[in-house]
Amino acid sequence: MSGDAGVGDGGSVSREQRRREEELTATVLASFDEAPDARTREILQALVRHAHAFVREVRLTEAEWDAAIAFLTAVGHITDERRQEFVLLSDVLGVSMMTVAVNNEARGDATESTVFGPFFTADAPRIEHGGDIAGGAPGEPCWVEGRVTDLEGRPVAGARLEVWEADEDGLYDVQYGDERVAGRAHLFTDDLGEYRFWGLTPTPYPIPDDGPVGALLRSVGRSPLRASHLHFMVTAPGLRTLITHIFVRGDELLASDSVFGVKESLVMDFVQHAAGSTTPDGRSVEGTWSSTRFDIVLAPDDGGGSRR
Ligand code: BEZ
Ligand code: FE
Repeated sequence: MSGDAGVGDGGSVSREQRRREEELTATVLASFDEAPDARTREILQALVRHAHAFVREVRLTEAEWDAAIAFLTAVGHITDERRQEFVLLSDVLGVSMMTVAVNNEARGDATESTVFGPFFTADAPRIEHGGDIAGGAPGEPCWVEGRVTDLEGRPVAGARLEVWEADEDGLYDVQYGDERVAGRAHLFTDDLGEYRFWGLTPTPYPIPDDGPVGALLRSVGRSPLRASHLHFMVTAPGLRTLITHIFVRGDELLASDSVFGVKESLVMDFVQHAAGSTTPDGRSVEGTWSSTRFDIVLAPDDGGGSRR
């Protein structure tokens, strides 16, 4: 026998019924005992233990099992190389964020990670310090600056920052279906570990909700909206890759982000500036603008960090 069969019937079934259910779990667990790869065995046996306990706990009906299969089939049908509904499902169930948490262990003051999301592209243009990532995307200009350091507070020169965000209409460039590149760029920290660029003040937007995951959210009264955010991916040799966002203090969606990506430590002050006021780099901006500061601390890369 391969470990405990587990309980999960809430005490609602007879001894004989429980014996049969536990025997089935034990038999399925044992079927993996000879798996040559120990990690595969561990994962599949844990999956079986939890799945069986789940079915027993909720006393899953056959109609509900049919509905679950139909749902997963729909998730598969809408998934292609551009649309990944399985990841979206993982996101709204908090499984993505739990995987991020497990793979990015807390290390001193290291900046917290959050979910990657589907809208990163590897070929964003390079900008210089003070450059603009908007590329024509509509929105209120936002000055973003900060410093990248390691856990000892030493500046990290030459760190690569990838930054990307939705425009004020709640869309990423890749969602327009044309070839535009906007709201994204990469840049490198200077010798002091500092960076600065113009982006857009983040605004809320819904995760893609025209598929089965959107229907699931509607059926349980959950909103598809994400709290306003700006994505960062920071890489530097010898340091753990950081995938994160910054969020806007005061955003009413902070407590109900549809993918559970918000961490208090990632909520930043975005200061509003009047039209015509002087900007940090002297650029003239039509209308209002905002500014924020995001100092980033990278953990050492000890092999336990993000696998990306
Ligand atoms: C995003 O932040 O871009 C995102 C994250 C998870 C699911 C959908 C979108
Ligand atoms: Fe996003």
